[in-house]
Amino acid sequence: MAVVELVGLTKAYNGAIAVSDVNLKIASGEFFSLLGPSGCGKTTTLRMVAGFVTPDQGQILIDGGDIVDQPPEKRDIGIVFQNYAIFPHMNVADNIAFGLRMRKVDKATIERRVREALKQVGLVGYERRFQRELSGGEQQRVALARVLVTQPRILLLDEPLSALDKNLREEMKFWIKGLQKQLGITTIYVTHDQSEALTMSDRIGVMNKARVVQIGAPTEIYERPADLFVTTFIGHSNLLDATVKESRGGSVGLALGDGITIAAPARSGLIAGQRVKLVIRPENILLDGGDDSMVRLPARIDAKVYQGALIRYQLVAAGQPLVAEVQNQAQKAQYEVGGSVTIFWRPESTEALPIE
Ligand SMILES: Nc1ncnc2c1ncn2[C@@H]1O[C@H](COP(=O)(O)OP(=O)(O)O)[C@@H](O)[C@H]1O
Ligand SMILES: [Mg+2]
Repeated sequence: MAVVELVGLTKAYNGAIAVSDVNLKIASGEFFSLLGPSGCGKTTTLRMVAGFVTPDQGQILIDGGDIVDQPPEKRDIGIVFQNYAIFPHMNVADNIAFGLRMRKVDKATIERRVREALKQVGLVGYERRFQRELSGGEQQRVALARVLVTQPRILLLDEPLSALDKNLREEMKFWIKGLQKQLGITTIYVTHDQSEALTMSDRIGVMNKARVVQIGAPTEIYERPADLFVTTFIGHSNLLDATVKESRGGSVGLALGDGITIAAPARSGLIAGQRVKLVIRPENILLDGGDDSMVRLPARIDAKVYQGALIRYQLVAAGQPLVAEVQNQAQKAQYEVGGSVTIFWRPESTEALPIE
């Protein structure tokens, strides 16, 4: 399987920058996602790798060799497009065989490879069905089989689940990830859905405004977001207004308001007097069971939302609103609206991010 390296990849359309200086190295067999909001340049990046868009600058290396001058059909790359429409006038077997017929592969090989592909995507017995006889998920599997049958070195998937309903999307997430691991195929997966990227990927490249702004494993992206954009794009976070008071060793003191100062991990570039946002995930705020190593604040409960397995409390602490999410366990106390509580969090589960 192949290593993919993008070096300084750049593309503008009529002077408007679509992809700017993208540098990525994707390991052999890796599941790598490009995650970002609509219009940030994900599809353009993927199409440059596939060969349908020519970069203005940069290199695309596969196993060390630059492929920028090669046409798509020479690149040995499989791509499933966002609108993965399969041919309605062909049955499943003919849909899957199509790419091989175009390549003038002999009949016996086509039959064998189509059988293999049907097995890989779990559609044995569906050979003679047409599109109208397939569910959305089954159509998606045919679209994938059509690409896998050509045995590409690299698999590119552009929002392949966006046409499916929520339950099917959940199921297909795990299925695609399982198949990718089983085949060991280097995969670049494009999505604007953070939960897809977090569950499926070995690593994620978060894109914003044509640039890759952070690269890391899902836990790093979620727990150590590089900036305020990544923080607000991935998951739900509390963002408290704070001012840096002093920096001491590995920790900074932050003034939160109401005369309250707390500790947060130091970060390069923070200076006294600077305005920052203190980032705290709702699940990292405790309403009981805190210890002396934790930040401790008095808070008032403004609202309580029962969500079954979770309870969301809307709180006010240091004059600022914040949300805590608590596992709903039978042995745990619940707190009532209007009541006072003490809240706790680990300083290391927070980040002080400069306001841009
Ligand atoms: N063929 C094109 N011609 C002109 N502008 C384009 C073309 N394709 C994409 N763009 C622009 O480039 C930017 C990035 O688009 P795209 O890569 O499709 O983003 P994403 O897939 O992240 O939603 C957008 O501003 C889009 O309008
Ligand atoms: Mg797109």
